[in-house]
Amino acid sequence: MNLNSRSSRRRGSTAFKMMMKSSEKAKRIRGMKGQKPVSCLTGYDYATGRLLDEAKVDLILVGDSLGMVVLGFPDTTHVTMDHMLHHTAAVARGVENALVVGDLPIHSYDTPAEALANAKKLVACGADAVKLEGGVKQVEKVKAIIDAGIPVFGHMGMLPQRVLQEGGYKKKGKSKNEIEAIIEGCLALQEAGCFAIVLESVVGDAAAEITDALEIPTIGIGCGEGNCDGEIAVITDVVGAYPWFVPPFATVRADIAKDTKRAAVEYIAAVKRRS
Ligand code: KIV
Repeated sequence: MNLNSRSSRRRGSTAFKMMMKSSEKAKRIRGMKGQKPVSCLTGYDYATGRLLDEAKVDLILVGDSLGMVVLGFPDTTHVTMDHMLHHTAAVARGVENALVVGDLPIHSYDTPAEALANAKKLVACGADAVKLEGGVKQVEKVKAIIDAGIPVFGHMGMLPQRVLQEGGYKKKGKSKNEIEAIIEGCLALQEAGCFAIVLESVVGDAAAEITDALEIPTIGIGCGEGNCDGEIAVITDVVGAYPWFVPPFATVRADIAKDTKRAAVEYIAAVKRRS
């Protein structure tokens, strides 16, 4: 038995028996445009995946941001397929209802054949769908994955996998040309069959314009409030688990770092008292 597969998830529970197919889950997210905002969070491990699913989030992205907030790399360009498979499998084991998306890391989708082979590996680990960065140039890869029955989540605007090429994280949608290029890319992804598109670090008004131009949901991060059809946030930003860098647009809703340190200090003191 493949311990990573969907069939090894929490079998026996009522929810498992009622579980929707991956394609139906992706269709449900697509259908939320104009109806309900789509809630999305990243997750990197079993416990967090299970907690977020119990909280009834719509979509959990096992993002390659794990390279920074879990693995301690300076950016996402160090993330490999092995990292993504390991963490996607962990999250998927804890999730019954949310759509689980596995990120395709840098250089895992350089050709349509590679994109498809690696998307299949993420699905074998329990992902319902995969995400990749970029627009017009990715269309053949997106089509190859979708033709094999795997839903694809697009990613436009600021593309973290290009951080070294671009010399930093640059806000997008500042000029008419830039907005038109993003819309062109998004329309190409929509045409290719993506069920939704992440818009990252796009000027608010531009994000709203792009959202209006599309029939599929845009999921914003760093695009201002209410400019996209849904929002995605990095879970460690939301719960305050990675205090060393918090993006300016993040809303921190808990202080896990402080609590973890306090609990560790108390535990250490309790152990030391015995000596
Ligand atoms: O890797 C990631 O977490 C992402 C989100 C920021 C959208 O791509």
